[in-house]
Amino acid sequence: MRVDLKDPHRYPLLRFRTVSFNHKSLCHWDFWRMSTTGEIEQSYRGVQTHMEALDRLMGEILSADVGCVDDMLKYAGRYSGKRLRPALVFIIGDMCGETTDKHVRLGAVVELIHMATLVHDDVLDRATIRRNHDSVNIRWNNKDAILLGDIMFARAIRLLVTIGNMRALDLLTGAVSTICEGEIQQNQLSGDFSVDFVTYKQIIERKTASLYAAGCELAALLGGANEKLVTAFSNFGMSLGTAFQVIDDCLDLTGDENVVGKSLGTDIKNGKMTLPLIHLLAELTGAEKTQVEELIQRDNCTNEEVKEIRVLLADHGSIDHSLSLARGYVQESLSPLRDLLPARDFAVVEEIAGFVLERRL
Ligand code: IPE
Ligand code: IPE
Ligand code: MG
Ligand code: MG
Repeated sequence: MRVDLKDPHRYPLLRFRTVSFNHKSLCHWDFWRMSTTGEIEQSYRGVQTHMEALDRLMGEILSADVGCVDDMLKYAGRYSGKRLRPALVFIIGDMCGETTDKHVRLGAVVELIHMATLVHDDVLDRATIRRNHDSVNIRWNNKDAILLGDIMFARAIRLLVTIGNMRALDLLTGAVSTICEGEIQQNQLSGDFSVDFVTYKQIIERKTASLYAAGCELAALLGGANEKLVTAFSNFGMSLGTAFQVIDDCLDLTGDENVVGKSLGTDIKNGKMTLPLIHLLAELTGAEKTQVEELIQRDNCTNEEVKEIRVLLADHGSIDHSLSLARGYVQESLSPLRDLLPARDFAVVEEIAGFVLERRL
């Protein structure tokens, strides 16, 4: 089959790799525009100027006087992710009134917190690839990755202080604490088959959705929205973030590492009781169930064994079940906004929610 390199929808990372090797200074925003699907591109286009301002601010923040620290910060900053959280901050800011310089700082704070959690998360998950490159713990080591994550958290909070809003300070420091609580809860329940759907949902709301909720709420608040709309956007962020993590947990089992750009299969290897696995274990009986439980509890099962579990997940409809729950969260995320936003704005929010469900990276 002939590979069409001009089709970013089908070959997003092929294009990314080609471009990033040839043009090192390519702005992250350009990367995103090329690498994403058509649907989300439209929503991002409306906030392009803010995305570019974010890019400049992130560049300033991710540097240090100490040479070896500067190398690490620049390495982490060079490989941008989807930047969905700051994009939401700008899109919501525009919908609620005006997106100001405070929104650009808020977007950077949220993205820095997110990046810090990723640097730490890769240590916890023993992941080797992040954003198509060696994770920080592999490029350097676990000790320095922990410290780099701490620097990123500290810089995020320092920037947050300059926004001068106590509710923002309270919400985002609260979100950092909540994310860590979710990650600890997940670690301590590793390989524990008593983890049910309710506990799973609590964990993902804490580790992932809390940051989406705080970012969306504050974007509306700083945009001048009334309390009703601020609350609606907070609820939107919480449900969308929950769907985002369910999809991530499906991608960990079914995705292509070259497309997603990060280590996959790590959830089983680390004994994480994600939704597809919870569903699968509820479906299985007898020897088959014992075998899967044994694999999950093993410290590090092989890629071949992960593949065997993939087959079972497909046979028992566990991925389909998880996707349908994610669709439910997306519907839940949209419903509080349907009556509060003008049709044109609601269509943009709907498009982003659609992207969260359809994403392959
Ligand atoms: C990955 O988040 C971590 C999760 C919460 C699942 P993203 O998928 O947003 O990561 P980047 O920023 O695009 O790399
Ligand atoms: C981590 O979840 C979410 C964080 C809060 C960092 P995952 O462990 O599933 O994220 P990935 O798959 O490594 O990006
Ligand atoms: Mg991880
Ligand atoms: Mg994951």
